[in-house]
Amino acid sequence: MTSQRTLIAGNWKMNGRRAALSELALLCEALQADAAGAEVLVCPPACLLPVATDRFPQAPLVFGAQDCSPHADGAHTGDLSAGMLADAGARFVIVGHSERRADHGETNALVQAKAIAAQSAGLTPIVCVGETRAQREAGVAEAVVRAQLRESLPIGDAPLVVAYEPVWAIGSGLTPTTGDIAVMHTALREEAGGVRLLYGGSVKPENAREILTVANVDGALVGGASLMARDFLAIIRAAQG
Ligand code: PGA
Repeated sequence: MTSQRTLIAGNWKMNGRRAALSELALLCEALQADAAGAEVLVCPPACLLPVATDRFPQAPLVFGAQDCSPHADGAHTGDLSAGMLADAGARFVIVGHSERRADHGETNALVQAKAIAAQSAGLTPIVCVGETRAQREAGVAEAVVRAQLRESLPIGDAPLVVAYEPVWAIGSGLTPTTGDIAVMHTALREEAGGVRLLYGGSVKPENAREILTVANVDGALVGGASLMARDFLAIIRAAQG
């Protein structure tokens, strides 16, 4: 366990337009009325970051991004640097999400470079790891995740978060047993030390409390259920006891 606050992070993925900020308004209102025990993070699409930080300057939550370039600046058309994201109001950035590993062929080495770039810009990277269904069925889930971590994590003491997201649990409505989550998070703790360890993959209001009480689970990375304020709030509330 860490002494840091539980972190409940919402990953909007490629969802949302300006109109979706009405959900953020509802979330902020609810958290202002009744403060969360957990630290709350929302990672909208990058184009909404400056809109969100301008509209909610006193928000009782922090904002983050979903990816960053490993480079600081320069001729990298279409990419966004960690420094740009920090300038747009991000405090965290997700790196190595399995959708980026799959859609963009991101390797552990690239994920590590992105995590280092994030830390250099003052952002806290959330480094994602997780096994596929085939790897779990072959009994190599823990070995795969340990290897991903060793190759993806930046070295040093700069702020860092790790998210364990089994690929087969993301967006599927399936989750590992709490026993399986406990085994994996014990391995993560051995590998990553005292950083916050999030579980992600089909976290919902109905299962959040059970997952968040597993040993070495210090928070959640929430996709689909972070899009609606009501569901995300229920998960945030589940984190406080
Ligand atoms: P999900 O996504 O909660 O929709 O399963 C989690 C994630 O990919 O971060």
